[in-house]
Amino acid sequence: MSAPMSDAPLAVHVPLDGGRAYDILIGRGLVAEAGARAAALGARAAGIVTDETVAELYGARIRESLEAAGLRAGLIVVAPGEASKSYAGYAAVCDGLLALKIERGDLVVALGGGVVGDLAGFAAATLRRGVRFVQVPTTLLAQVDSSVGGKTGINSPLGKNLVGAFHQPRLVLADTATLDTLSEREMRAGYAEVAKYGLIGDADFFGWCETNWRGIFSGGPERDEAVAICCRAKAGVVVRDEREDGERALLNLGHTFGHALERLTGYDSARLVHGEGVAIGLALAFRFSARLGLCSGQEAGRVANHLALAGLPTRLAQVPGGCGDADALLDAMAQDKKVRDGALTFILARGIGRSFIAPGIDRAEVRAFLEDELRAG
Ligand code: NAD
Ligand code: GLY
Repeated sequence: MSAPMSDAPLAVHVPLDGGRAYDILIGRGLVAEAGARAAALGARAAGIVTDETVAELYGARIRESLEAAGLRAGLIVVAPGEASKSYAGYAAVCDGLLALKIERGDLVVALGGGVVGDLAGFAAATLRRGVRFVQVPTTLLAQVDSSVGGKTGINSPLGKNLVGAFHQPRLVLADTATLDTLSEREMRAGYAEVAKYGLIGDADFFGWCETNWRGIFSGGPERDEAVAICCRAKAGVVVRDEREDGERALLNLGHTFGHALERLTGYDSARLVHGEGVAIGLALAFRFSARLGLCSGQEAGRVANHLALAGLPTRLAQVPGGCGDADALLDAMAQDKKVRDGALTFILARGIGRSFIAPGIDRAEVRAFLEDELRAG
């Protein structure tokens, strides 16, 4: 017998066209319901892609749930951390899925954080030219951002997320109880992406976060509420601009700086995880905006203060082992996917909740800013 469905998970619908609409369900206990919900999609087998840490915690539970619902299920386990989002990690996952005889009508189930979601999603996008997949995100970052919207991919030694595909999941099951086992550090990293949604376009939500962030961390009702608010915001952007021809780029607020920092720290999760890079990037984006006269220094300070209160880094000097000089940072940014004809595009802000896409930013202006930031320590 598969587990009964939980009472009332929060639901966010992603109304994409072409039969690609899907639901994001948010609530405690959804991992144990994965089988019944996957069976409802009509699959007969599932290849569960996860990492060692998550496999230990939730691998048996999801596998039993899938098998109880009548699906043949097998696990493919990668090492935890960003380094698995690599050519070698991708090959291992594809071969693992093929060895499990996962066919087009079957499912790839991504159980884990954004690393697993991006990697498994890319394998699903390309295996047999496209297999359906379900996201079961187990980090705050993955629940509020990476599991939604269909961006999948891996890193190249030349840059972050440079090899990938758009491939939407058929279902997202955000079991917020899984966050109870997440480390404080990873909670904080995910929280940077939560705050990001307020900073992009919802000043009221940023204010709500300033009041309620502790409830998100401790697992109060604020956690599910925050995940739902973020998913609703992201779903709206994705439906309006699925392929990032415009508005979707706003979701990269803080990421041009953040991705460069990840690259310069060698994607070494021991030094810097994605959300920490984003936190520094958010603070830099606001300070840069203030320097350009777009927003007040007071607002930039409010952003950095809140991130710091939640335990996040906000300064380049906080990157363990350093991040190189301004030219190294600029070179790393030059691989950003928003680069057009060599000119940098940034997401800047006219205030909290008033972010916008700023193309053609002068490199000299960025260099001077970075030099000052590096000097400020
Ligand atoms: P992650 O996947 O590396 O997970 C962080 C760590 O938490 C890992 O060590 C993992 O083993 C552990 N973990 C996961 N769930 C756990 C749980 N419930 N309990 C205990 N430990 C757990 O990192 P992440 O922060 O989730 O994701 C970062 C990645 O997401 C980056 O590669 C980034 O580029 C990508 N990303 C993608 C998108 C997108 O739209 N596709 C958006 C944002 C970020
Ligand atoms: N995280 C950025 C995006 O999904 O577009």
